[in-house]
Amino acid sequence: MSAFRYAGSELHAEGVALSAVAERHGTPCYVYSREALTANYRACASALAGLPSLVCYALKANSSLAIVDLFARLGSGFDIVSGGELARVVAAGGDPRSVVFSGVGKSDAEMEAALAAGVLCINVESASELEHLAAVAARLGLRAPVSVRVNPDVDPGTHPYISTGLRESKFGVAFADAAALYRRAAGLPSIEIRGIDMHIGSQLTDLAPIREAVTRVLGLADALAAEGIRLSHIDVGGGVGIRYRDEAPPSPADYARMLQELFRGRRETLVVEPGRRLVGDAGVLLTRVRYLKPGTPRAFAIVDAAMNDLLRPSLYDAWHPIDAVRPRRDEPRRYDIVGPICESADFLGLDRELALAEGDLLAIGGAGAYAMSMSSNYNSRPRACEVMVDGSDTIEIRRRETIAELFAHEQRLPR
Ligand code: LLP
Repeated sequence: MSAFRYAGSELHAEGVALSAVAERHGTPCYVYSREALTANYRACASALAGLPSLVCYALKANSSLAIVDLFARLGSGFDIVSGGELARVVAAGGDPRSVVFSGVGKSDAEMEAALAAGVLCINVESASELEHLAAVAARLGLRAPVSVRVNPDVDPGTHPYISTGLRESKFGVAFADAAALYRRAAGLPSIEIRGIDMHIGSQLTDLAPIREAVTRVLGLADALAAEGIRLSHIDVGGGVGIRYRDEAPPSPADYARMLQELFRGRRETLVVEPGRRLVGDAGVLLTRVRYLKPGTPRAFAIVDAAMNDLLRPSLYDAWHPIDAVRPRRDEPRRYDIVGPICESADFLGLDRELALAEGDLLAIGGAGAYAMSMSSNYNSRPRACEVMVDGSDTIEIRRRETIAELFAHEQRLPR
């Protein structure tokens, strides 16, 4: 059951009325449910429990310290893509030894920080990166633990901006070149081969492409083993989608059943890198209607959240549920729910049927993932605060930015 539910006439997060959150913390405000985050993690980890496995939460979905802290307490590892995300894991009390480091463009400084922290694995995405990492590790007198991210060339059937496993994408090493790169890695004294890695895309609602890609990767692992290159883990990436509207994504149990079947009898540890699945439905963006602008052909509800708080509708045409915190009984009408930013792309939802009055609160669902983490200060808007609900408690896990903070790192010209 969702942790966001109506009790009486009002939408609650766990035991807290969202109007009380708005009153105390202001709007716009991201509200997360500790119960939902915990349940999502446990569903994922327990579904894989029969296999040697490690869940590495993909920080990019939501890298707020309290969320990373919660997953660390639950025993999660982490998938990171930058030195900044590594620093967040450490600051939140996560264990760097269960961190996998993905990404196509790691800097020397990021490689050094990862090696010094003792991460589980660095996923290399090109031949040049492997050589570079070998040189950095040799300079430090260390051996770099490595996986090669292979590009299995499978169409995941999702939005092109979040497809990563096609031959024409920038991610991973071409499938045909991967074995040669492993042979090269095996000959580099400062490289220690740990595993193999893939990730074909995000918001996947069909298991078939994942099955096809994992099958290809397992075949490659077997071919490498036949040459004496043995892997200790196989990382199948993240990407399983959630329901925003009417999608029917596979359940954690369905996904795990497929992996159990594919991994039966194997010795390697299975690594998964879920992001959206763990946090997406565990957060809402709470916003207040500032002005109603009736008109033809469109009526607008101008709210205090905007594309800088939730970019997904503008960038991917993504559909997020939008519900009134206290639904009215009046006749609903169709509104475009838009923000104050000076762009026509600044919309949070189009053509939504709602009964609204100025001052009403709206909850935009599916805002636990890729909302705060993709937020910006566009139009010099301070970033919204974040609140974690825990039963009947609320904890402000990030306070609202102040206007002064917006240009605290800037200066005027000297003359
Ligand atoms: N592992 C790697 C290497 C990734 O690149 C990603 C996401 C994940 C794991 C986690 O994927 P997830 O389980 O969350 O689907 N901003 C976009 C999503 C970008 C995903 C990028 N990579 C959105 O809002 O839909």
